[in-house]
Amino acid sequence: MSDLTDSLSTHTPMHAIDLIRRKRDRGTLTEAEIRFLVTGAASETIPLEQLAAWLMAAWLNGLAPEEIRALTVAMRDSGVKFSPARLGKVAVDKHSTGGVGDKTSFLVAPLAAACGVVVPMISGRALGHTGGTLDKLEAIPGYRTALTLEEFEAVLVKCGASIVSQTPALVPADRVLYALRDRTGTVESPGLICASILSKKLAAGLDALVLDVKTGSGAFMRKREDAEYLAALMVATAEAAGTRTVALMTDMSQPLGAKAGNWIELVESVELLRGERKAESEDLRELSLILAGWMVYLGGQAETPEAGYERAEAAMADGSGLRMLMEMIAAQGGDVAVFDDPGFHKPGATRLVEAWETGYIAAMDTTMLGWAVQRLGAGREKAGEPVDAHAGIHFHARRGALVEKGQPLATLYATRESMLAEPVALLRQAITFSGNPPEGVPLVSRLFTRGEAEAYLGGSL
Ligand code: URA
Repeated sequence: MSDLTDSLSTHTPMHAIDLIRRKRDRGTLTEAEIRFLVTGAASETIPLEQLAAWLMAAWLNGLAPEEIRALTVAMRDSGVKFSPARLGKVAVDKHSTGGVGDKTSFLVAPLAAACGVVVPMISGRALGHTGGTLDKLEAIPGYRTALTLEEFEAVLVKCGASIVSQTPALVPADRVLYALRDRTGTVESPGLICASILSKKLAAGLDALVLDVKTGSGAFMRKREDAEYLAALMVATAEAAGTRTVALMTDMSQPLGAKAGNWIELVESVELLRGERKAESEDLRELSLILAGWMVYLGGQAETPEAGYERAEAAMADGSGLRMLMEMIAAQGGDVAVFDDPGFHKPGATRLVEAWETGYIAAMDTTMLGWAVQRLGAGREKAGEPVDAHAGIHFHARRGALVEKGQPLATLYATRESMLAEPVALLRQAITFSGNPPEGVPLVSRLFTRGEAEAYLGGSL
């Protein structure tokens, strides 16, 4: 390259419009161009309409492996990086690709912390049809998710676990792009999901990470091969960035546990941590113990994942997991007394839906059920809107259950009476009855370690 061309290419200004048009026309952006977009998102200097257009182009045309890697790293670097080394414990976290009734964070974070690892968890809000860990926690009066780094560290020192949001300092690019994807139909893209999740996890400075990659009717990646690709992509990308990572592919062909919403999901989690067992919550209990077992194992506190499971189960049985969760909530300003107040749950309107046929529940369109939950008031129409802490659905029957016509199927909680009609219609559309029971689906169907992820991708990353 001549001196003139060299100086022209280094000094040519970038324009978001050029990068949108290139992605629209199926081109590939360079690392510097991706960094330009991410920096512009974080500093809010690129207008939201241009970011939204680029996201849609990326959703439609896909991202090349090198673009995904560049996006992940640029988003991680968009803010400060937390350094858990000072905490003197191995830092391990779990992150899910998103589901309905997916509340394992409230169990795994305190259980793993009770077993001796530290869990610095940067989470998200409701995204598309799925619920958000932060929205659920904010159902607790006073709970603060936007902590400073100093506050985050202080909670981790005191409680061993802290669940916080992205902030203008911590992964600010994900803060902006996440909220934008939620409102623009650009969630279900492997590259965008990978960068969103891993930017948060890598910014938290983790030693190890357990990914819960959902598959089935309520997952962003509904098809098995798409979920496998996402799992392999995330494991290989996180490992390349220096974080030991495994991914478990888990079932989302029905809501996890019996409750989906905000406050009601916390209640179901706390019941399990209190040692209360109900058939309707057994899948949630089992998956949480498996995930926590992997966290404890990767954190060096057990010889095997199975031994980690046993340690997590012991922390559930002796109440130390519950204590950890309550300490964390109190340390982040939350009023723990609400967990003992049966009058706290005050939905604006309640409706019981009964089975309209006799038969086996053969299939659930869990994405549609997720939209029903969001439209009861648990999710938002516009970025930044408040959500209803008390909206949600309590499912009284699971996939495979034989139900009689007229038997209670679900209780819906809405912000107000006028918001019930659409979710009731969605629920009726989402559930299919049959004269025969459906085939069972395993809770965990596949594990990806680094070796398996790299073999799956065949050197394409
Ligand atoms: N969780 C995230 O943090 N981001 C996604 O894109 C999906 C799930």
